[in-house]
Amino acid sequence: MTRPRICVTRRIPQAGLDLLADACDLRVWPDELPPPRADLLRAVAEVDGLLCLLTDNIDAALMDAAPNLKVISNFAVGTDNIDIPAATARGLPVGNTPGVLTETTADCAFALLMAAARRLVEGAAYVKAGQWQTWGPTLLMGQDIHGATLGIVGLGRIGQAMAQRARGFDMRVIACDSAAATNAQALGVELMPLDAVLAQSDFLSLHVPLTTETHHLINAAALARMKPTAVLVNTARGGVVDPAALHRALRDGTIAYAALDVTEPEPIPPDDPLLTLDNCLIVPHIASSSHATRGKMATMAAANLLAGLRGERLPNCVNPAIYAT
Ligand code: DGY
Repeated sequence: MTRPRICVTRRIPQAGLDLLADACDLRVWPDELPPPRADLLRAVAEVDGLLCLLTDNIDAALMDAAPNLKVISNFAVGTDNIDIPAATARGLPVGNTPGVLTETTADCAFALLMAAARRLVEGAAYVKAGQWQTWGPTLLMGQDIHGATLGIVGLGRIGQAMAQRARGFDMRVIACDSAAATNAQALGVELMPLDAVLAQSDFLSLHVPLTTETHHLINAAALARMKPTAVLVNTARGGVVDPAALHRALRDGTIAYAALDVTEPEPIPPDDPLLTLDNCLIVPHIASSSHATRGKMATMAAANLLAGLRGERLPNCVNPAIYAT
């Protein structure tokens, strides 16, 4: 019996590859960088399954270049890199990896918040540069985290995990997300409209998916509503923040600091003006990157792919509408 052919667009943790190799004829893109578009189009031409990353643009044209494709499995919880309506229209199930990265991502969001508040990156650079000569009464003064107000935009799984961490630090937690009212109460989170969250937050953490509604949600007008002492934390998607408006806001003191795991575009070009600012900390989209979590994402993505190849319902499917028809 012929084994299904699958394409994996980068080397994911071995646990996932092992599951796939047991059942499939596996081709893994070997480079550190994502496959260029032409290579990806060629690679999918004969495959039955595609395991892709958030760096791959999986649009209608790519789906049409893969006439045997039965399933798309994303190695991520976010699926903004995939044209979901196009997949649904073609009867293609799309899988993702929710849940397993919730706590790890919230850990990183809180780490960014703390690093920004207490100027840890500046402090480390100061020491490494040999500038530390004595204990200083006003040296690198930062902001208190305890007692401050954390605003959460998007109280889904990761937003709620962020709220739990904040409560452990005696923060007041406010949030906007109409869908999460029940959990908000249990978590001690005050729900309010976005404008009120923007105005009251000492720290603002973004946890919404990137959609047409959330694209540049944090624009010049939103930043202008924030406190001049506010810190913006983004571990969601770069496109939720207007980068030009953020640069102006940080440069002009409209807000105090930004700590970003994600940027628009990714990777951020080395000459991007945000990289010239001392009050902007940027790390390379690593919020879910712990050994354990990336391993779980790999096995989960593999399980979605294998289920799709067998014609079974994906354990985690973002377009379950395909099963209704
Ligand atoms: C996701 O899964 O969407 C994350 O952004 C990966 O870190």
